[in-house]
Amino acid sequence: MADWGYGDMPDQTGKIVLITGSNSGLGLACARDFLTKTKVEKVILACRSEKNAQEAMEELGGGERLEFLQLDLADLDSAKSAAKELCLRHDRLDTLVLNAGLSGPGKRATTKQGFELTMGVCHLGHFAFTAGVWPLLLKSSKARVVGVSSMAHTWAKTIDFEDFNWEKKAYAAMGVYSEAKLANVLFIKELGRRMDDAGVTHVTAVVLQPGFANSGFYRDQGCFLRCVLPCVAVGPDKLSLNLMRGATDESLQSGTYLDPKRHSFYGAPVVREASAVACDPELAARLWAKSEECTKQEFKLARE
Ligand SMILES: NC(=O)c1ccc[n+]([C@@H]2O[C@H](COP(=O)([O-])OP(=O)(O)OC[C@H]3O[C@@H](n4cnc5c(N)ncnc54)[C@H](OP(=O)(O)O)[C@@H]3O)[C@@H](O)[C@H]2O)c1
Repeated sequence: MADWGYGDMPDQTGKIVLITGSNSGLGLACARDFLTKTKVEKVILACRSEKNAQEAMEELGGGERLEFLQLDLADLDSAKSAAKELCLRHDRLDTLVLNAGLSGPGKRATTKQGFELTMGVCHLGHFAFTAGVWPLLLKSSKARVVGVSSMAHTWAKTIDFEDFNWEKKAYAAMGVYSEAKLANVLFIKELGRRMDDAGVTHVTAVVLQPGFANSGFYRDQGCFLRCVLPCVAVGPDKLSLNLMRGATDESLQSGTYLDPKRHSFYGAPVVREASAVACDPELAARLWAKSEECTKQEFKLARE
């Protein structure tokens, strides 16, 4: 079968797209692809820094099709108020790309509400925001939720609910990152199952691993990695295709996991399977319950 490419993208005319963490890296490349390669009505840059988002919007050429939404995923109040604000501004949302993330910082850090930062931003903030904008996705005639995970999800053996905040065990940057990226896959797969149960048929939830991008993502990593990065990683613009397939390919079913073809580093997006742990429905259901408890937000999928 031929590789999936931009030419396979279905018509996106009139769609309203929101991408979290779109002022840089893969999120910015994805915003650019939507603007230049499709006829979407709006691309909403949901970012924590208005200044950085404004600079990104200038880089993208500005204009009516761009919009900024203030969203700090390290603060659940911000995630909830951003969702409310979006519900006031728009009557539907067609495509939600949950892209923002960070690699585990050198030292344990926490969100505003005291959760371990990487899990807090990559998963809990996105969970609360998605629950808040769910009514808008239900109003779309054909909606899509895209989770952006990582190959690192395969390194996590489970979600440690006994020490969810890494307060008891020794802190490990790669440990918090791989667990957070495992949570990204579990969340999307569970969303798909719950949509099935609730009879929601017009929303599709897929998850992907973008590949190895030479982005600002590795800014806090050791100098060895930062030095070799340009030799082994490609520019975010080369990997945006993976996000675009996740966001647009109508042949994909909920729960699908996309991975770049070449060594999972780069190349065309292909359908593969996530790790066995990431496909465990019991673990996913437990994470869902934990996320509702942490965010103090019930996530009901059926229409009221
Ligand atoms: N780069 C890779 O090789 C690679 C590999 C696998 C997976 N990924 C995944 O791809 C996604 C994008 O990464 P990237 O490479 O494009 O990195 P990036 O250039 O560092 O972009 C990350 C984005 O997330 C935003 N962000 C961080 N903390 C946030 C918060 N508290 N609230 C809202 N936004 C926040 C950042 O905003 P600021 O600019 O304000 O910090 C930035 O816009 C991440 O989920 C990452 O896990 C990347």
